[in-house]
Amino acid sequence: MKLIVANWKMNPTSRNGARQLFDAIGRRLKGRGRVEVAVCPPFVYLPSILDILSGRKKCQVKLGAQDCFWEEKGAFTGEISPLMLRDLKVKYVIVGHSERRKLIGETDEIINEKLRAVLGANLTPILCIGETAEERKKGKIFQVLEKEIREDLKKVPKSKIEKVVIAYEPIWAIGTNNPCSGDDALTAVLCIRKIVSQIFGKKGTRNIRILYGGSANSKNAQDYLFHDSINGLLVGSASLDAGEFVRIVKIGQSL
Ligand code: PGA
Repeated sequence: MKLIVANWKMNPTSRNGARQLFDAIGRRLKGRGRVEVAVCPPFVYLPSILDILSGRKKCQVKLGAQDCFWEEKGAFTGEISPLMLRDLKVKYVIVGHSERRKLIGETDEIINEKLRAVLGANLTPILCIGETAEERKKGKIFQVLEKEIREDLKKVPKSKIEKVVIAYEPIWAIGTNNPCSGDDALTAVLCIRKIVSQIFGKKGTRNIRILYGGSANSKNAQDYLFHDSINGLLVGSASLDAGEFVRIVKIGQSL
């Protein structure tokens, strides 16, 4: 089953706006479809959205978070623990998004700590990796992906590797309206599969889910989703428009 994840980033700016957006998505996606859908709002909206979900037993949309801290509790001002997320029925947690790597300075070491904490809390991490335009120009895609996979998945037990979702998110394609072509995304996704199987072995890594993210929308969704090897999409700006996001999900359902 394909997985389509909405990453709202730091939007919308009011609780009412968040409720309306989620409501509009939920209303159009009643019942269990052939695609798994998750929405990752900012932390502060999670309780309100959980309320909406609790009142709508038929709505199968899962909750996700955009980040979390690597410790369970304690003196870590401003941070959010994976246990708090689990308590709010969160299932997915994005880790290592390029905006956090670049703007907040998150290193592979930090991302690795977070990823293991997410797994430790029995939640599903969505690990974002991808190259810059410069790295692509220099033909370094494979090296960049390999370094990120090695470092971000360090010390993850083999038994848990298939719980990790990886999102191939070329940095030059994020929020630029310049998406990666379906073929190039497929090449990178196959390359990620190969690297993961080289590190962790072929057995037990076959079912790892790998998504594409970067200016995905209803016009290009099919280019990625029709490849069996691409297991879904991580959608940023297009997920802020309920109609557009639902169109993407419907494309996934129609395949
Ligand atoms: P975008 O963002 O769809 O706006 O390019 C994707 C992401 O950052 O996950």
